[in-house]
Amino acid sequence: MSETKVTVMETRVQTLAFDFLSVAQEAAIASYPWIGKRNKIAADGAGTRAMRDRMNLIDMAGLIVIGEGELDEAPMLYINEQLGTGYGPHVDIAVDPVEGTTLMSKGQDNSITVIAGAEKGGLLHAPDMYMKKIAVGPKAKGHINIEASLTENMISVAKALGKKVNELTVMIQDRPRHDDLMRQVYEAGARVKLFSDGDVTGAIATALEHIEIDILVGTGGAPEGVIAATALKCLGGDFQGQLVPQNTDEYKRCVRMGISNPEKVFTLEEIVKTEDCFFVATGITDGMLLKGIRRIEDGSILTHSFLTIGGQHKTVQFIEAYH
Ligand code: FBP
Repeated sequence: MSETKVTVMETRVQTLAFDFLSVAQEAAIASYPWIGKRNKIAADGAGTRAMRDRMNLIDMAGLIVIGEGELDEAPMLYINEQLGTGYGPHVDIAVDPVEGTTLMSKGQDNSITVIAGAEKGGLLHAPDMYMKKIAVGPKAKGHINIEASLTENMISVAKALGKKVNELTVMIQDRPRHDDLMRQVYEAGARVKLFSDGDVTGAIATALEHIEIDILVGTGGAPEGVIAATALKCLGGDFQGQLVPQNTDEYKRCVRMGISNPEKVFTLEEIVKTEDCFFVATGITDGMLLKGIRRIEDGSILTHSFLTIGGQHKTVQFIEAYH
């Protein structure tokens, strides 16, 4: 009996997750007019405004614990910004209204709206800066170590997946800082899948059977790291992250936010401290994870979203909706 019982907290999280599905859909729809217009700020601004307006209608005491903006100086939902009516559950929120603003502004694939949420205190409260990351799906959970070389991680992950190392596909963001990671994959005879932007998609892809990605590795935004980690917690995958302060100012910011050792390795359980969490994404342009927004002839708009909820009864849903 008790094994199948849904807790009150789980029910609350599930209800909230569907509220946040609407938030992601509305943010993606608001960004749609800006696809291919070479205006990242306007695109981010439209998504951000729609998110804020819709979140403020939700009965919750929401708190942005990690948001975007300082890395690319985009209009942002501020860290510590409070959202919602103030009535209802306390929720930690991490957002990126447009994950892949450059992609979107160039009319390219793979831009999405993403939101992660968890019960109060559930998400890592970290500054906007770079984070070194490694992500894998459920079968390789417990078989990664961000402090070891990628070569060692590939050997360990391949064993867990029952594959040969040269059968692995490793997703890496196409940046000069990742040249050594790419070299290790090529030397192992494995396959690199390069992408120009959007590492949240790559991290989630490791946990989805229909996408052939085994590992996501590299250094990208910390907000995207926390958001991807939440998705992987819901999906049963694994993630490790390590902040990479670029200067003494960033180092001090970590310390001010309570991270006394900014070089610390964060496990998935330290980044997402609860099972009561959810992740939602809506496609803006077409991509590996989701199709983008479609305007239908009758004037309605079709959205494609991905929703995953943690807890005892983990859920994954792909949702097509007409608005
Ligand atoms: P935006 O959502 O700000 O456009 O970020 C896109 C992104 O590619 C992230 O997915 C990634 O974590 C980060 O940028 C990497 O930063 P950089 O472009 O500086 O390499």
